[in-house]
Amino acid sequence: MTKPPFILTIAGGGSTYTPGIVKSLMVRLADFPLAEIRLYDIDSQRQDTIAPVVEKVIRDHSDSIRFCVTTDPEVAFSGAHFVFAQMRVGQYKMREQDERIPLRHGVVGQETCGPGGLAYGLRTILPMVELIDLVERFAHKDAWIVNYSNPAAIVAEGIRRLRPDARVLNICDMPVAAMRNIAAVLGVKREDITVDYFGLNHFGWFTRVLVEGEDRLPELREHIARYGLLTANAADTDPQHADPSWVKTWRNIKPVMDHFPEFVPNPYLQYYLMPNDIVAHQDPNYTRANEVMDGREKKLFAAAATYKQTGILPDAFHVGVHGAFIVDVACSLAFDLRQRHLVIVENKGAIANLPYDAMVEVPAYITANGPEPVRMGNVPTFHRALLEQQLASEQLLVEATLEGSYEKALQAFTLNRTVPTMQHAKAILDEMIAANREYWPQLKQAYRDGV
Ligand code: G6P
Ligand code: MN
Repeated sequence: MTKPPFILTIAGGGSTYTPGIVKSLMVRLADFPLAEIRLYDIDSQRQDTIAPVVEKVIRDHSDSIRFCVTTDPEVAFSGAHFVFAQMRVGQYKMREQDERIPLRHGVVGQETCGPGGLAYGLRTILPMVELIDLVERFAHKDAWIVNYSNPAAIVAEGIRRLRPDARVLNICDMPVAAMRNIAAVLGVKREDITVDYFGLNHFGWFTRVLVEGEDRLPELREHIARYGLLTANAADTDPQHADPSWVKTWRNIKPVMDHFPEFVPNPYLQYYLMPNDIVAHQDPNYTRANEVMDGREKKLFAAAATYKQTGILPDAFHVGVHGAFIVDVACSLAFDLRQRHLVIVENKGAIANLPYDAMVEVPAYITANGPEPVRMGNVPTFHRALLEQQLASEQLLVEATLEGSYEKALQAFTLNRTVPTMQHAKAILDEMIAANREYWPQLKQAYRDGV
C-alpha cells in the first residue's frame, strides 16, 4: 500500500476537466492528503494555458503542495502514487470528425456510442497501453491508475487483453451523475442512495434504488413518466451535464421507460434504442464537439486569459460529480475503505449470464487491492441480448485494433445497433479510415490484401 501524503499525476493535464478535478481534490485534502500534483500532457501549449488556473486553485487551498507541469513522462510519473488518466487522443477536432462522419450518413454521431465511439476506440487503445507502461516503469510499485479515458468500455477491454495485470481502475461519471439526479428527484443526498446496476459502460440499467433499505424505484418510475430524470423544474441538475443537449438527454429517459419501465436506463441507451429520433435532432455541421469547443473549452481558455491579465480567476469550471467521484474512488483505493461504487470490472460471474471475461459495469467494493464486484445474478433475455450484441461490437473493434483487421472493424461497425446496414457500416468506416490516418493502426483486408 502507498502512504500519504501522495504524489498524484494527472495524465491529460490540458483537459477542460483538470481544474474541476483539482478543485475536488482541494476540498478533500483532509481525506486524501497530497504532497505534490503533477500535470502531464503531450500538448505542452494547451497544458501551459491551463496550468496557471490549476496552480491558482491549489494555492487558494494550500501553500505546501508542490506543483509540476511537464511533458516528460519520467518527471511526470517518478514515484507517483496515483495517476488520474483522462487522455483524449486527437482532441476535440477528432471528436468532431467522429460525430460528423456518421451523421452525414444518417447515423448517430456521438463521442462514445456508435461509429464515433468505435473510431475513438481505434485511436485510444494503443496510446493508453503506452501510458500504462510509462506509469509502470517510473511510478511507485503500488501506484494506481484511475482511468476516465474514453471510450471507456473499449479502452477497458483493450487493457484487459494487453495488460491484464496492470493496476488500472476504469471509471465513468455517467452512473454517478444519474444517481445525483435520482437523489434530487427523491429529495435525498446522493450518498444516501445504494443502487443495483448491470451493464457495460454507457450501456446499462439501474435495477434498484435503495434509500434506508427501501427500494424507491416505483416512485422514481412515476416521476420519470412525467419529467424524465430531472426534477420537475429541471433546476437541480449536475452542472457538468446541464447544457440544453444534456437536459434533452435526461428527458429522453422518459420515452425509453415508457417502452421499458422495468429498470432505469443509462442515458446513453437513447442512442441505441431511439437512433432515428436522435439523428433527427442532430446537426452534422454543428455537433456536441462544437458545443463543447464553443462552451466549456472557450470559457476555460477565456478564464485563463483573464487570470493572466488581471490576476483574478473567474468562476469558469464546476465541481460536480465528475471530480468528486474520482476523488472518492481514489480515497477508497488509498485507504482500503471498501466503499461501494459503480465501476468497470472484469465480469467473473458478477452478471451470471454474460461471458466470464466481459468488461462490465456493476457495483463493486473498492479495496486497496482493487474492486470486488457485487453479484447482480442473471439479467433478463432482452437486456442480455442487447448487451451481448454491444459487447461483441466492442470486442471486435479491439481485435481489429490489435490485429490490424479491416474485416473485424467492419464487423464491429455492422454489429453496432446504431448502424442500420452493412453498406452504412462500410461507407462510414472507409471515411473514418481517411480521417484517422494519423491515429489508427493500418487496417488490412485479409481476403484482398492477402495477409
Ligand atoms: C459523461 C460521460 C463521459 C463523457 C461526457 C461527455 O460525463 O460519462 O464519458 O465524456 O459525458 O460530455 P460532454 O459535455 O463533453 O458532451
Ligand atoms: Mn463516461
